[in-house]
Amino acid sequence: MSELRRNVVIVTGAAGGIGSATVDALAARGVSVFAVDLDWHAIPATSGGDVCLHSADVSKKVDVVNMMGAAVNQFGGVDAVFNNAGIFGAWAPLAEYPDETFARVFAVNVTGVQLVMKHAIPVLREAGGGVILNTASTGALTGVANASAYVAAKHAVLGLTRAVALELQSDHIAVNALCPGSTDTAMIAEIADAAGVSLTEPLISASDVARVATWLLLDAPRSLTGVPITVADGRVV
Ligand SMILES: NC(=O)c1ccc[n+]([C@@H]2O[C@H](COP(=O)([O-])OP(=O)(O)OC[C@H]3O[C@@H](n4cnc5c(N)ncnc54)[C@H](O)[C@@H]3O)[C@@H](O)[C@H]2O)c1
Repeated sequence: MSELRRNVVIVTGAAGGIGSATVDALAARGVSVFAVDLDWHAIPATSGGDVCLHSADVSKKVDVVNMMGAAVNQFGGVDAVFNNAGIFGAWAPLAEYPDETFARVFAVNVTGVQLVMKHAIPVLREAGGGVILNTASTGALTGVANASAYVAAKHAVLGLTRAVALELQSDHIAVNALCPGSTDTAMIAEIADAAGVSLTEPLISASDVARVATWLLLDAPRSLTGVPITVADGRVV
């Protein structure tokens, strides 16, 4: 199967550690980037490249529909989507886990991923194929005590990835799940703070995760689909 050049990429969670590092890496490759976060003002400036900033809450259908329309208006189409926005939630055993926080983790991490995939599919079909890369976590592959909502949501992201990859094979759309281990971003600092621990293990750098994401978004063959790709110093396979 011939590979189309991937010229336009949407990145959600673009104000965060992994998202902003990936926007930088993509812009440096000469790709047009549609960078999305809750508030576009929070998205750091890149050193160059063709980057358009946009505000959207991925858990809201209207925002996702508008986001896709705005990306197509801006760049004439979309070739790949980095479905990366996410939240951690609370650090608590399930018996004490706040219901509203559990629901919000699912709204952002599962419904958000589902909505972005759903509304990206027609746009990628129009382009003749493409890539969807969902950010899961090593928490999609193993349990973590006191993080039930996050772990369950990331398992769901991997399930969505596996199912939809099979649905989209004949459309030449690859769908994979990026599974970083503990990565040096605001989220891991928030988790350590909530858990009341200091981080002792070495963290993965956001730029390492971004390099893998960029390869999956721009360079990987479409036959690589439906799989979790860990970036975790070999801690989880
Ligand atoms: N940092 C880690 O250790 C780690 C490990 C595995 C997976 N991840 C995943 O990587 C992804 C990126 O996280 P990060 O580490 O860069 O954290 P981060 O907190 O730096 O970035 C997350 C970004 O997502 C945005 N966001 C949150 N809710 C949103 C919504 N409803 N709509 C749009 N944007 C929203 C936030 O504003 C933030 O900019 C997340 O999906 C996270 O679960 C992180």
